[in-house]
Amino acid sequence: MSNFYSAEVLSVHHWTDRLFSFTTTRESSFRYQSGQFAMIGLDVEGKPLMRAYSMVSPHYDDQLEFLSIKVPDGPLTSRLQNIQVGDSILVGRKASGTLLSQNLLSGKRLYLLGTGTGLAPFMSIIQDPDVYEKFEKIILVHGCRHVHELAYQQRIVDELPQHELLGEMVADKLIYYPTVTREPFRNQGRIPVLLESEAFFEQLGVPAFDAADDRFMLCGSPAMLKDTVDVLEAHGLAEGNMSHPGHYVIERAFVDK
Ligand code: A2P
Repeated sequence: MSNFYSAEVLSVHHWTDRLFSFTTTRESSFRYQSGQFAMIGLDVEGKPLMRAYSMVSPHYDDQLEFLSIKVPDGPLTSRLQNIQVGDSILVGRKASGTLLSQNLLSGKRLYLLGTGTGLAPFMSIIQDPDVYEKFEKIILVHGCRHVHELAYQQRIVDELPQHELLGEMVADKLIYYPTVTREPFRNQGRIPVLLESEAFFEQLGVPAFDAADDRFMLCGSPAMLKDTVDVLEAHGLAEGNMSHPGHYVIERAFVDK
């Protein structure tokens, strides 16, 4: 059996000239946990050209959804950005990734910190009822350069709290904090800077973070991950993995190079 299967594109949404998302059919044998990624791509001159993409869609959905940047000379995204409804893409049969709540110690609050397309794995996580069972509050922070790059705002703010099954949990436990760095907006600043600011936690209505109560999942560029981890470690938090659950876990957001 091939490592990939062919999925049909069901919808495409262009958020900006740098950002788009799309949905595809899902093979029923393809299983994943919230927060995981799969290899997806296109057949280019007879060869599969694949990159890691986190699933935006919740693990129980019958479709898959992905969020992607558009890199003009990127081997995959320069092509992928032109996909149309009815086209086929390749999806790897195996999902993997470290952004799993079982890699974290139990705690009161779960922070999901993402920049750019680093939001993607957190979209599946905030649609997972099990995550709401484990934490008192889920705090989703999405950092972007510009306001129009804050993808899925409407789904997070308007649709999820009205969701038939999740709505009550979302309304009670999910705090969404979008932040922008290159234009005026109600929230501004980079994530590591926010973590060091009292005003940020006051706005969220929670105590400043500590190793006893707070857990973190991070997804962004290598620089964002490094700077954020530096702040967490300075406060005594330690990274978790499959064999040793910890205070935080990280995943690099996808780049097409
Ligand atoms: P900034 O505008 O100050 O560079 P990008 O599109 O380049 O991936 O950036 C997405 C968001 O991540 C932007 O708001 C950007 O802020 C921010 N960012 C870039 N580098 C870092 C970093 N080292 N730590 C935290 N946030 C960062």
